[in-house]
Amino acid sequence: MVLLGGLLIGSLAQGRVQADDKREAAPDFQRDVRPIFEEKCLRCHGAKRRGGKLDMRTLEAMLTGGDTGPAIKQGHADKSLLIELIHHQEMPPKKEKSAVTSSELDLLRRWIDSMPGKNPTRG
Ligand code: HEC
Repeated sequence: MVLLGGLLIGSLAQGRVQADDKREAAPDFQRDVRPIFEEKCLRCHGAKRRGGKLDMRTLEAMLTGGDTGPAIKQGHADKSLLIELIHHQEMPPKKEKSAVTSSELDLLRRWIDSMPGKNPTRG
């Protein structure tokens, strides 16, 4: 009985460690997302230029969006124009050297999906 108890506790502890290893925190705008935008998007969507009238310096500005409407739909990466255009390699424009990598796109998707949705029934 004593031995069995020891084994049980041992395996529970191991399970905890594995779960902790796998858990990933939701990406953070300032820490994880902004550096990608700064390198690959802000030259055309920032202080000096706003392609499609889109300003990507703040989340608020991206929620407002540009000519085509909101660039980000909170909680719905798949319905976010920003993700769609990167996915179809329309942004950044093809002539640009620095395309968004698949791991960066994955991070952006997780960032948007982790946002609480504001208007789940609309649009
Ligand atoms: C070389 C300049 C340039 C770069 C770099 C660039 N864009 Fe754009 N973007 C534009 C222009 C110009 C438009 C306006 C539509 C068009 O003419 O294609 C646009 C439009 C958009 C739109 C649609 C805006 C709307 O409401 O119509 C989104 C979303 C967007 N870009 C996202 C991005 C993202 C994300 C990046 C970085 C990964 C990026 N862009 C990098 C120039 C750029």
